[in-house]
Order: sequence, then C-alpha cells, then structure tokens
Amino acid sequence: MIEANKECDLSIRIGGLVLPNPVMFASGTFGNIVDGYPIANLSRLGAIVPKTVTFSPRIGNPPPRTVETPAGMLNSIGLDNDGLMAFLERRLPALSTIGPPVIVSIAAKDEDEFVKMAEILDAAQGVSAVELNLSCPNVAGGIDFASDPRKCHVLVARVRQRFSRAILAKLTPNTGDIATIARAAADAGADAITAVNTLLGLAVDWRRRRSRLGGFFGGLSGPAIKPVALRCVYQIAHAVDIPVIAAGGVTNVDDAMEFFVVGASAIQVGTASFFHPMAAWEIIDALPSALRELGAYSIREIVKTLCEPRKACDLRKTREC
Ligand SMILES: Cc1cc2nc3c(=O)[nH]c(=O)nc-3n(C[C@H](O)[C@H](O)[C@H](O)COP(=O)(O)O)c2cc1C
Repeated sequence: MIEANKECDLSIRIGGLVLPNPVMFASGTFGNIVDGYPIANLSRLGAIVPKTVTFSPRIGNPPPRTVETPAGMLNSIGLDNDGLMAFLERRLPALSTIGPPVIVSIAAKDEDEFVKMAEILDAAQGVSAVELNLSCPNVAGGIDFASDPRKCHVLVARVRQRFSRAILAKLTPNTGDIATIARAAADAGADAITAVNTLLGLAVDWRRRRSRLGGFFGGLSGPAIKPVALRCVYQIAHAVDIPVIAAGGVTNVDDAMEFFVVGASAIQVGTASFFHPMAAWEIIDALPSALRELGAYSIREIVKTLCEPRKACDLRKTREC
C-alpha cells in the first residue's frame, strides 16, 4: 500500500560520495555559478557541476557560439574558461560554500595533463569528485578518450592512481559502441559514468553558404537528443555496475523518471535551463510524488526497472509490467 506521508529518500551514492538528491546541472549550462544564482537556492541541488576547466585558460571558439534548432540547440563554445589556477582561486571557494558536493569537470590536451590536474584537485579543499570530460565535440581531440576503449582505460586508470575521491567519466554519443567505452572506464576504476555529452551537428545558412557557428560544427543538445541519450544510458546501465548519471534533454520530472527507469541513478539538467531556469528545482520538488506513483520511496528502487523486450518482467519492481 502507498503511504502518502512516508518520506521519500532521494539520496544516491557515487563511490564514497552521497548526494542528497539525484538532480544537478550539466556542465557548462548554468553560467559560472560563482556567487549563487539569484533566482533559486543552489543549496537544494544534489551536486554542483561547474563548466569544464582546462589546465591553461582557453578563449574558446569565435562567435556565433550557439544556434537554436528544432527542440534543441547547437553550441560551439570550445571550452572557454580561465584555467585551473583561476578556478581554484576564484570559483572553487565560492562554490564549495554553497552546500552540495562540488564535482569539478576537467578536460585536458593529453593523459599527462589530465593526471596533473587530478593531482592538483586531489590536494584542493572543497572538491568532492571530478567529472572527466572525455567528450567535448567542440575542441580538437575532444572525444579521443571516449572513442577508443584502450585509451579510455589507460587514462581513467592513471587518474585513479592520483585522485582519491569519486571519478565520473563523461562520455560522448558520437561513437559506435558507448557501452564498451563505459566498461573500459568502469574497469579502470571510474565510480560513475555521465552520459551523454552533445551530438556533433551542423547548422547552415544556405544563402551565405556558411555554417551558422563560428566553430563550424557544434554540439546538439536539448529535448531533440533525449531518445539518443535514453538509448545510451540503457546500454551503459546494462554494461557496468557503477551508477550512470544521465544528461540529454532532461526538462521535467517525466524525463527524469524515464532516465531512472532505463538505468540512471541521477540526472543532469542542461539546455532546459536556457528556456526554463527553474526546471531543476521543479524536478526535485516533483520526484517524491512521481516515485510514489510507482509505489517506490527511493530512487534506488526504480533504477533500471524498464521491462525488457519480450521477457517476463520483475513484478516486484514495477506495477505497470
Ligand atoms: C552551451 C553549452 C555548453 C556546454 N559546455 C559543456 C562543458 O563545458 N563541459 C561538458 O562536459 N559539457 C558541456 N556541455 C554539454 C552538457 O553538459 C550536456 O552534456 C549536454 O548539453 C546534454 O544535455 P542537455 O540536452 O540537457 O543540454 C555544454 C552544453 C551546452 C548547451
């Protein structure tokens, strides 16, 4: 029987890290969140995931950097950021006082640079985890580590040796077999997989015969990519035993629930914040009643409970089957 007043447990675990709830922003999609965002209470998020940081400052790609598309957007920001030292001095102190664990997203030009950044972050106060951005389509070589399972394994294993807290590996859908890459990351010691980054795309001004983006190609995101992200999360969740953190078109609680049922333990809200800045908070507020609709009181109970095609399903897990 469903108890309307019973408290829901929204917490989730990633390695040794416990998040109070499974909702966070996707890296790069919610400003620099330095001093708190004026419209809402950032302390209610499950985690804080800032824009990807690189070792050296990057100016990013020339404008225009974003283009609206049907049900989504293309971006070619090109990892514009002030570099790791500026992040540690100016951003991290403010972010780490907000409350939720800070998951620092990092990208690097090669293995050695990833390892160096991980070492520096391991020594820093206020860093709960790193999200290795192995998947930016807008920089040269940005997806190499998430396209080749061997390269992915070696990189994650080397970072594992130098970083004592949780490691998330963020993967690209721009690859043939995302489940194999996820398995390589998990075998090398990743604590979670984040999936997915943007899909490589192109927007064209045919009258001028030019790309609409200064960086030429861009990364497609938003509701348009949700079906691809759902498929990727499903495949990854069936390939690894570590939590999957879903990104790709999450806009409301129904999207979030779809990702949990296919195998995600947490979700990231990205493009939705551009057209509905309160989306993440609305999802947090709506989760308890959505869980109760499935007769559940925790996220854990519903993760990976999608009925398998043409198989008898587990009646203990879902009421719908
Ligand atoms: C403007 C913009 C900037 C982004 N910057 C980053 C970034 O710095 N690092 C990263 O890992 N992903 C970045 N992403 C990808 C998002 O984190 C997310 O993986 C992707 O957009 C899919 O989620 P969504 O459909 O909810 O936006 C960016 C996406 C957008 C739209």
